[in-house]
Amino acid sequence: MFNLIMSVLNNKSKYGLLSKLFHWLTAAGLIIQIPLGFYLVDLDFDQTRVDIENYHILFGLIIFYATLIRLIFKLLTPTPDFKGSAFLGQKFIAKLNHFFLYFALLSITISGILKKLFNGESLVIFLKKINLTYNYELSEQFYSIHVLANYALIGLITLHILAVLFHKFLLKENILKRIL
Ligand code: HEM
Ligand code: HEM
Repeated sequence: MFNLIMSVLNNKSKYGLLSKLFHWLTAAGLIIQIPLGFYLVDLDFDQTRVDIENYHILFGLIIFYATLIRLIFKLLTPTPDFKGSAFLGQKFIAKLNHFFLYFALLSITISGILKKLFNGESLVIFLKKINLTYNYELSEQFYSIHVLANYALIGLITLHILAVLFHKFLLKENILKRIL
């Protein structure tokens, strides 16, 4: 029983099953969600667009809740330490990359939610139906954040993957194992 709990939770040297599961579910979700968003905005205004937007919102809200759960979990359990450091500041850069990945995920999802709400539409968030007063300007501003944060996320994911490749091919270290 103790061993089972230990394999589910993180400890100072290993990611547990929960962290691994959330990491890969989010990554898989984003592979669908980012292209879906770009595809959606180019569609003509008809029922298909409304349906695809509803799926986009549903997936987006799932990613939002998953990110919140991950962050709460991160506060409650230890984050595994990095082994060694190839150059000065390496651990700091890695932590910064992780911080901004979470920040971008929250910015995208919260701005998407606020874009819809200020557009005068209602959404169910935390099981509660929310309505805000229509405000076109705020809706457009939150949408700009939504788009900008998406480009930032694509850049951060690229750096994140390059770091794994850098470890593998230049430092001959397989860090991918840590999250598999
Ligand atoms: C991590 C989650 C999400 C990602 C990666 C994402 C990504 C995107 C992308 C790439 C676009 C196209 C931007 C453009 O080029 O104009 C977009 C559009 C949009 N997103 Fe998201 N989004 C996410 C979550 C959400 C959420 C939670 C909502 C609302 C609750 C939302 C609402 C919208 C809306 C309304 C549009 C514009 C659709 C239109 O103009 O018809 N998104 N999203
Ligand atoms: C596509 C979206 C992705 C996002 C948003 C993402 C996000 C993150 C975050 C936030 C962490 C830090 C976890 C924590 O300690 O709290 C992390 C860890 C990690 N990710 Fe990703 N990731 C993504 C994709 C990938 C991919 C495709 C790979 C492999 C090529 C990868 C490899 C790793 C590894 C190896 C770690 C552990 C780093 C360490 O502490 O040694 N990730 N990821």
